[in-house]
Amino acid sequence: MAVLQLRDVSKSYGQGSRRVDAVRDVSLDVDHGEVVALEGPSGSGKTTLLALAGALLSPTSGEIFLDGDNVTRYGARARTRYRRDRVGFVFQGSNMVPFLTARENLLVVGSFGGSDRSAIRHRADELLEQLDLGAVRDQIATRLSGGERQRVAIARALMRDPSLLLVDEPTASLNFELGTRVVDALLSEVHRRQKACIMVTHDDRMARLSDRIVEIRDGRILSERPLS
Ligand SMILES: Nc1ncnc2c1ncn2[C@@H]1O[C@H](COP(=O)(O)OP(=O)(O)O)[C@@H](O)[C@H]1O
Ligand SMILES: [Mg+2]
Repeated sequence: MAVLQLRDVSKSYGQGSRRVDAVRDVSLDVDHGEVVALEGPSGSGKTTLLALAGALLSPTSGEIFLDGDNVTRYGARARTRYRRDRVGFVFQGSNMVPFLTARENLLVVGSFGGSDRSAIRHRADELLEQLDLGAVRDQIATRLSGGERQRVAIARALMRDPSLLLVDEPTASLNFELGTRVVDALLSEVHRRQKACIMVTHDDRMARLSDRIVEIRDGRILSERPLS
């Protein structure tokens, strides 16, 4: 069974003549250890689709399953728990706490649920190492480079061991070389940890590094291309 299953999912904003059909009848499975690149021009519905998968928005119609559970049936509290414990978000802008170090930015997230502190520290250090951030772990977030910041954002999203990783335009502000490093790091973590991941991008060179490309236009899936 796929980790994430979207079944005929649609999302409209607004009403009447102001209605925008942002996502239309999308069905998509994402498996363990798979990075799906969601590719499409601005306004095609990519961010909306991520927000639906992350239960930040509810679909207008259709169903969403994570690990077989019907997320669309969840009430408000279950959705909050779902977003906190089962999904890792990496949104545009990487939203780190600016006056904390790279490592502290991970520890902050790890401590929300109150699991034991040495386990949280161990997990943070392991992720920093694996994402090639060991040398900058004690640097203040604002002193990190763009590529380092994006890798910290990925590490942070993995801190709580989610099933699903949702990543929006992780390389938007990076040159090709740095962008490639970020996407490579993302892929190796998703493969190593057998997460399911959707990475939104409008850069085909980044999309081609993933496991599968799903092209979206005007809210609909246009094509799918397996890459590995
Ligand atoms: N909160 C909103 N209210 C109304 N329309 C929105 C809202 N968010 C997005 N849209 C519209 O939905 C469509 C898809 O937007 P979005 O999912 O952000 O696309 P993308 O991430 O591919 O640029 C666009 O036409 C956008 O203007
Ligand atoms: Mg977007």
